[in-house]
Amino acid sequence: MFKTIEWIDKGVRMIDQRVLPTREVYKTFKGYKEVAGAIKDMVIRGAPAIGVAGAMGIALGASKIDPKDFKSFNREFRKIVKHVAGARPTAVNLAWAARRMEAVFEKNRDLPTEEIKALLIAEARKMHDEDVLINKKLGTNGARLLKKNSTVLTHCNAGALATAGYGTALGVIRAAVEKGKNIHVLADETRPFLQGARLTAWELKKDNIDVTLIADNMAGHLMKEGLVDAVVVGADRIASNGDAANKIGTYTVAVLAKEHKIPFYVAAPTSTIDMEIKTGAEIPIEERGAREITHISGVRLAPTGIKIKNPVFDVTPAKYITAIITEKGVVKKPYRAGIKALFKK
Ligand code: MRU
Repeated sequence: MFKTIEWIDKGVRMIDQRVLPTREVYKTFKGYKEVAGAIKDMVIRGAPAIGVAGAMGIALGASKIDPKDFKSFNREFRKIVKHVAGARPTAVNLAWAARRMEAVFEKNRDLPTEEIKALLIAEARKMHDEDVLINKKLGTNGARLLKKNSTVLTHCNAGALATAGYGTALGVIRAAVEKGKNIHVLADETRPFLQGARLTAWELKKDNIDVTLIADNMAGHLMKEGLVDAVVVGADRIASNGDAANKIGTYTVAVLAKEHKIPFYVAAPTSTIDMEIKTGAEIPIEERGAREITHISGVRLAPTGIKIKNPVFDVTPAKYITAIITEKGVVKKPYRAGIKALFKK
């Protein structure tokens, strides 16, 4: 089995998701700026995975500070946190991970700097291990919602590659398969970065889970033909009212699912829920470069100089979501109360 990300001696090792599925290449990053660059360039992507990468990047940066006193250590640490946390804007997991690292720093500020560094590394590694366990719990909670024989459509990659392991949406599918359910997955290819075609198809195939790849514009037709029983997607940020940001195209799938009376599930850890925002309108939507649209694998598809728009996430209003699956339980409407209750558990 591949490893999405791991802490190795004085570095962070990641599988390079930009070149999958044709090449399985691992890269080691030895500084926090390199880790932030890897997040920006999508060497690693997916909300929980970039949370773990961010924490490891911060721990790595802190471990290399050679301070003359606590004041300079503190100043340098804050600079590192700001740099790493700013690598991508939409997934809240990055800010969540940064806050957790800052809390460890604060709690232990009276200790010798070498001890603080060791505690930061331990915290980042703990976040990695916790993420896999959280996904397994979330998977078990969600698997109950899938019928014994069903075709499940998913969008983007919310799998082992998008997390420290096992996956969120694909975690639900994996758990259902492990329970003996007969699940067939329809994977949207997910233009423009093709996370579905390149990553979801690759990891499910590797796991011998029955998967069929479709182009994004086929979902509606297949739903109308009665060939989709449920939709399960991940999320990058969920507002306190249940609105959920996920990969561009998710909103389209949700509206189609509602029209065809197909359950639409969002699977995400509670670290993806942003209680500080009231609705999805407050979620920043990342815009990426034109080349993701004009080119595929370095080959130009569109005329030179064409105007491009590339928002890479959209927000699905809560009214389209049948249930939100978390490690702490499954929440249904009304979401505001249900989500609030999750944080009391
Ligand atoms: O731009 P990406 O590939 O980082 O976007 C990822 C997604 O939108 C995923 O569906 C989401 O992060 C859930 S991952 C468990």
